[in-house]
Amino acid sequence: MVADMETKTLLHLLDWYQSNGINSVLHDQPRNRLKEEPVQENQIPQPILRAPVSHEHPALACQTLQQLKHAMLDFEGCDLKQSAMNLVFSDGNPKAPIMLVGEAPGADEDRQGLPFVGQSGQLLDKVLKSVGLDRTNTYISNIIPWRPPGNRPPTTQEIALCQPFIQKHIELVQPKILVFLGGVAAKTLLNSNDGIMRLRGIWRDYATHDGLAIKALATFHPAYLLRSPGQKALVWQDFLKVEEMLKSNMK
Ligand code: URA
Repeated sequence: MVADMETKTLLHLLDWYQSNGINSVLHDQPRNRLKEEPVQENQIPQPILRAPVSHEHPALACQTLQQLKHAMLDFEGCDLKQSAMNLVFSDGNPKAPIMLVGEAPGADEDRQGLPFVGQSGQLLDKVLKSVGLDRTNTYISNIIPWRPPGNRPPTTQEIALCQPFIQKHIELVQPKILVFLGGVAAKTLLNSNDGIMRLRGIWRDYATHDGLAIKALATFHPAYLLRSPGQKALVWQDFLKVEEMLKSNMK
């Protein structure tokens, strides 16, 4: 009877965690911060002196997608890797003329190690299909390759740490057209403080480090469309522009 009650309480607690987006565990034991002794001054952790590290980001040396994927698998500079199940590198065809860049993986993407396979991915697939695209003729990746715990937005620092990876990714794929899905991808890769409302729907040039100018269009993130279906028409307009640009690039 008592065991039953305990199980019920635990199930309620788990339910509560889940509904608050807490679905990954960072430590084996919970910490009761109310019971923690105040830290004595001589116990304050001192900064660890490390040997000087190279300030070269590991993305910079990569010359192939395979090397880039390995550099990301080996990267220890971003804590998101600790709580994620998988690296989410990419999906689709790396030889496709169009590359889509999203924000960060969610729970389904983390489980499968593939971008946009959850609910927003299914909506993205429908949008792509409406203009004759699918994962055989597009290539998809994200600004952040590891799932932020509880699907929280990535921090500015996490974005800065991962940015060289997606920049190198674009440089290696050399797509004819880039589509940025949502504000995080658009602001990061267009280096702008403007919001997605201002950035979307206008062609811009994205400059790679090796001097290539790629036509880039920002649009709303499919997760936003799930919350605000009234905006679907604007995304459809954006993808009609993509279709037109693809046709004129193929000539
Ligand atoms: N949202 C994203 O931005 N990327 C994914 O891969 C999935 C959901």
